[in-house]
Amino acid sequence: MRVIDLIKEDIASVFERDPAARNAFEVLTCYPGIHALLNHRFAHWLWQKQFKWLARFVSHMSRWMTGIEIHPGATIGRRFFIDHGMGVVIGETAEIGDDVTLYHGVTLGGTSWNAGKRHPTLESGVVVGAGAKVLGPIVIGAEGRVGSNSVVVKAVEPGCTVVGIPARVVRQPADVQEQRREAIAKTMGFDAYGTTKDMPDPVAQAINRILDHVHKMEERSETMCKAIQTLGEAEDLDIPCLDTYDIDAARRKDEESMI
Ligand SMILES: CC(C)(COP(=O)(O)OP(=O)(O)OC[C@H]1O[C@@H](n2cnc3c(N)ncnc32)[C@H](O)[C@@H]1OP(=O)(O)O)[C@@H](O)C(=O)NCCC(=O)NCCS
Repeated sequence: MRVIDLIKEDIASVFERDPAARNAFEVLTCYPGIHALLNHRFAHWLWQKQFKWLARFVSHMSRWMTGIEIHPGATIGRRFFIDHGMGVVIGETAEIGDDVTLYHGVTLGGTSWNAGKRHPTLESGVVVGAGAKVLGPIVIGAEGRVGSNSVVVKAVEPGCTVVGIPARVVRQPADVQEQRREAIAKTMGFDAYGTTKDMPDPVAQAINRILDHVHKMEERSETMCKAIQTLGEAEDLDIPCLDTYDIDAARRKDEESMI
């Protein structure tokens, strides 16, 4: 891809993510995130060509101008956007995918002084809220979201939203939850999925919540049983598993007997 096309894409991505942006000239002249990114693309090229001091110097000047510190060794994908920018720090071994958005005050930092990979990897589409710190060589999965002022020290699954210190998952991708519900509902012979998200059925939704609850309870009791068994305090009980229990067959048998 030509450099000019890359820059055009970077500018276009600002319009998608900042409703305040009015035209390309304004973006090019008044957006520190864009200045930092363009400087970084140049500094990174110098870094790869082994002009290490010059690369650091360009990066340092860029920091002076924009308040955004990006180590020239950091790898950044396409359509990266830093909104506002001041106080952003991106470490040497950070890797950033396409369509990632950071707000001001974000740190992608290390937790060790050892050389080698020590900064986070942000997969495509990740959004990191203002003031959040993502620390260590962890992966924030694609489309993951980090709430403002959170401190993330553990990997985040794709599509999840994490908030707080230390950051915890507050939202999982809908499809994971839906798939799990569907699997359980199928084994129970319950068809809540005739209804779509656009036509919510309150009864189906209530049952979905119960299924989620049952699933969580099952997971929890399994963990507890395993822990007790390791102490030699309990026998392994043969409880039929919800996922494999053939309620369908039982239901069919009932229906046949009614005909
Ligand atoms: C986390 C974020 C990405 C939203 O994700 P979302 O998946 O839409 O989640 P929601 O907004 O529905 O919030 C989910 C829960 O997390 C809580 N939450 C959201 N952001 C939070 C934060 N930064 N810290 C603590 N809790 C937070 C919400 O209150 C909600 O809690 P509840 O379920 O008990 O009501 C968003 O809140 C955020 O922080 N975006 C960054 C925006 C930013 O930095 N803007 C700066 C502009 S200058």
